[in-house]
Amino acid sequence: MCGIVGYIGFREATPLLLEGLRRLEYRGYDSAGLAVSGRRGKPRIAKVAGRVADLRDAVDPARTGGTGIAHTRWATHGEATDANAHPHTDPGGRIAVVHNGIFENAESLRAQLTAEGAVFASETDTEVLTHLIAAALEAGASSLEDAVRTALRPVEGAYGIAVLDGQRPDELVVARQGSPLVLGVGEKEMFIASDVAALVRHTQRAVFLDDGELATVNAEGYRTSTLDARPTDKQPVTVGVVEEDYQLGEFPDFMRKEIAEQPDAVTRALRGRLDERFATVRLDGTGLDARDLRSIRRVKFLGCGSAYYAGELGANLVEELARIPADAEPASEFRYRNPVVESDTLYIAVSQSGETLDTLAAVEELNRKGGRVIGAVNGVGSAIARACGAGLLLHAGPEISVASTKAVTNMSVSFAMLALLLGRVRDLSTANGQRIVTALRSLPGQIEEILRAEEQIAEAARRYADARNMFFIGRTRCWPTAREGAQKLKEISYVHAEAYHAAELKHGPLALIDESMPSVVLAPDDELFAKNISAMEQIKARGGPIIAVTNTTLPHGLTDTVIRVPHNSPELDPILLSVPLQLFAYHFASTLDRDIDKPRNLAKSVTVE
Ligand code: F6R
Repeated sequence: MCGIVGYIGFREATPLLLEGLRRLEYRGYDSAGLAVSGRRGKPRIAKVAGRVADLRDAVDPARTGGTGIAHTRWATHGEATDANAHPHTDPGGRIAVVHNGIFENAESLRAQLTAEGAVFASETDTEVLTHLIAAALEAGASSLEDAVRTALRPVEGAYGIAVLDGQRPDELVVARQGSPLVLGVGEKEMFIASDVAALVRHTQRAVFLDDGELATVNAEGYRTSTLDARPTDKQPVTVGVVEEDYQLGEFPDFMRKEIAEQPDAVTRALRGRLDERFATVRLDGTGLDARDLRSIRRVKFLGCGSAYYAGELGANLVEELARIPADAEPASEFRYRNPVVESDTLYIAVSQSGETLDTLAAVEELNRKGGRVIGAVNGVGSAIARACGAGLLLHAGPEISVASTKAVTNMSVSFAMLALLLGRVRDLSTANGQRIVTALRSLPGQIEEILRAEEQIAEAARRYADARNMFFIGRTRCWPTAREGAQKLKEISYVHAEAYHAAELKHGPLALIDESMPSVVLAPDDELFAKNISAMEQIKARGGPIIAVTNTTLPHGLTDTVIRVPHNSPELDPILLSVPLQLFAYHFASTLDRDIDKPRNLAKSVTVE
């Protein structure tokens, strides 16, 4: 959410900053701006309400300077206007700041500064910091680092910041408290970014800052310390991703690319984990041995949005395969209800990015109360992965599209493995364990089979693309799949979609059914198949169009459209049924000409409340 880029070195900063912003644009895309070192001690600023492409048009091509910072924004304080776009400067125009996150006490700090005569040029919380840094320098701070430290002292909230002082362009200062920041180490040049996506083109050596850490960066290297000035001596690590992971290749957009990558992503998630001999799995990263696993009396999944729905699917699998009570809760609610934290509950923090603030806060609440929490995270080295210490790495690879697809699938696959493991140290039989291992192994090939039928799904999506409301109907195991299907559709097409339990329709929502209200009904071949048929009959009787997603044969003439998926196993079929729903949402939104990878009002990685 919001992207930061910075550069200091022997090259021109502007093209590098623009290119870095383009890589990070998925983190926020309502405005963009940059500041590069200029003459007469003032950084030169360009910023626009709009996309990075608009900024590129606005930047003077003759702009030179080897030090710069840049930002792509997702508005929190103040509308998306040129004035509210970052970087922000102090009234003297000497200090430029870009900021991710929210300064929670910005209003009181602003009131205080205004009372002292300060005048503000924007409505943002960030501008407050520029005033504080300039004041600290004026008051005789010995260095920019010192001034930033002093300025941050009264500030409350979450931030990742980068600061450029026009009078000392041979260094940049960055600090992190709650919003990711990483340094890229080059040869006589250094990069700064909120995400390795902006670095990997230039270097594979990265330094991930921790919360409460600050760094001073110059072309020769960096120096890290805590906010209260204790050196931390951070060493670079090699990032495991490469430039190609961030390129579209033959695909029109990242969502389509990431849907297509699912067979490989699932294969990676399974690799080295399936244990045929004992009909179970090995999940060493969780740090849980058989005794630990047996001592677990409850499992709770915590995540936001699609990660929460994947947690619901995981909870169903844990109850079904391991017979342990399990549920999922939105991580955003958890800390606010003073949760009862039990020592024999296994808490699982679910997150693609590993940076979602609400999920991180739930982990911190659990750590504070002594709960046992592991992460199910895609972002290696992310804040949630580090706060959990142990967990299940999702191995989905970088996910750029705002709408999550391959990461959600890998969450579900990982939870199926965890459920199997928990089941096999209890009463799940060898035969059933073997059946699930085989089912897991079949998933990549079966997903490929679904992808091969894309054109048929696209045709169905085009047929219903004039609908303004849709139901996604599923029950028990398929309920989380229905929720995720509705989420994907609304997120990228802006069409209202609502998930409903099949049997609940007749208790109210059936009143909405008419010929303009299609229902996507998930009807796998399981013990509830006949009940799903009844629900479809009720919809049909009221003239509602039905798009059935199934792995079996349906009564002739019952549905308007059938999307077929292969049969896996009753427990894992919901994972397969979700793949056509991704393609359905994708083609529905494409027909409406939506900006698939950057849906309005949204951003990837929600690092604010
Ligand atoms: C939906 C989507 C969001 C995320 C949610 C959690 O497609 O992308 O609902 O699932 O914001 O994000 P992570 O998984 O990064 O914690």
